[in-house]
Amino acid sequence: MECKKTEWLLSLLCSGLVLSYCASEPEEVIEEVDPMTNIGIGPIKSIVLGEIDMDLVEKGKKFYNETCTACHKIDVKIIGPPQAGILKRRTPEWVMNLILNPAEMLKKDPTARKLLKEYNNVQMTDQGVTQEEARSILEYFRTI
Ligand code: HEC
Repeated sequence: MECKKTEWLLSLLCSGLVLSYCASEPEEVIEEVDPMTNIGIGPIKSIVLGEIDMDLVEKGKKFYNETCTACHKIDVKIIGPPQAGILKRRTPEWVMNLILNPAEMLKKDPTARKLLKEYNNVQMTDQGVTQEEARSILEYFRTI
């Protein structure tokens, strides 16, 4: 009899745990947006791209190799996604806003939220990049 009581208490405890787990982790519903029209959230509202500036590309490539390659490789998925062809999937504004404002983007932007989920909640960190540096990375991304 004593044993049954313990079992009963245990099962009660377990269902309590399951219930509280479910209550605290509701499945997130991410709004559907078209990434090719989504400019993201941050300081960059509109960019007009002209001819590719090869000096700026070189600066961006150097900066990317120094700052981003702990988590990224252009052609291969490592900690973060590969960026090859990124501007066929994302707007230039979104790319710059993610680089400049990752914390808010990963919290509120649907495209970034989806990516975060895909990457098992590993957060892209804020590298303290200036707008000028982010713009040079974008120029480099136009060539990959
Ligand atoms: C600490 C690891 C880390 C560092 C450092 C990092 N990133 Fe990321 N990055 C990620 C992860 C992880 C993602 C996927 C989104 C997420 O889970 O946060 C991502 C996503 C991205 C994306 C979106 C890719 C897509 O397919 O939409 C771009 C663009 C990007 N990073 C650029 C950069 C640039 C540029 C730098 C350097 C200034 C950088 N990242 C530094 C981890 C990192």
